[in-house]
Amino acid sequence: LFAGETEFLKGVVAMNGLPGADRMEVCFAGRSNVGKSSLINALTGTKGIARASNTPGRTQEINFFTQGPDLYLVDLPGYGYANAPLAVVEKWQKLLKQYLSGRQNLRRAFVLIDSRHGVKKVDEDIMKLLDSAAVTFQCVMTKADKVKDKDRAKVLEQVRGALARHPAAYPEIVLTSSEKGDGIPTLRSIIAGL
Ligand code: GTP
Ligand code: MG
Repeated sequence: LFAGETEFLKGVVAMNGLPGADRMEVCFAGRSNVGKSSLINALTGTKGIARASNTPGRTQEINFFTQGPDLYLVDLPGYGYANAPLAVVEKWQKLLKQYLSGRQNLRRAFVLIDSRHGVKKVDEDIMKLLDSAAVTFQCVMTKADKVKDKDRAKVLEQVRGALARHPAAYPEIVLTSSEKGDGIPTLRSIIAGL
């Protein structure tokens, strides 16, 4: 699946702009700055195809990438704090929720959690929305390179506890570092297995 080319298809700002639901799709959701765009770059091996930056709120549209002919990878705007005007943020948050609960070909949502911070209230809110929409979601821990082993174990325990409360959660948690490449082959094979 990942031997194919990755191409940017379009940035979407309203539900009626979504591409046709003609193939499997996976999306990457998470708080602003958690590392969604960086993870797409690492997964596809095409640095810079998804724009990443240190400013929370970098991705403001729903960005579709084609991965070969059979898969869409979807980079979402973040939720939680963003360095953008409130009216703009509210608009993209609304779109994000509509997308997450109303996309027929969405096979799995990856909910990204910072390895240093664990699951926050805003993550819980998104998980509840995914429960209601019956969208299977899986947690991906990001920035694993930034945390010590002993701290990581503690955060993982917190994340496991949170997932246990969500019927739509897939129990396996994937540890990743887009910087170092940890967990990237694992995540690729999970997606290929869908
Ligand atoms: P928004 O689009 O604003 O919601 O952010 P995002 O979730 O797409 O995050 P993005 O990929 O833009 O990354 C945010 C910052 O974290 C950037 O400065 C990245 O270089 C950094 N970053 C992302 N992944 C990793 C990682 O695995 N390790 C380290 N050390 N830094 C990372
Ligand atoms: Mg982004």
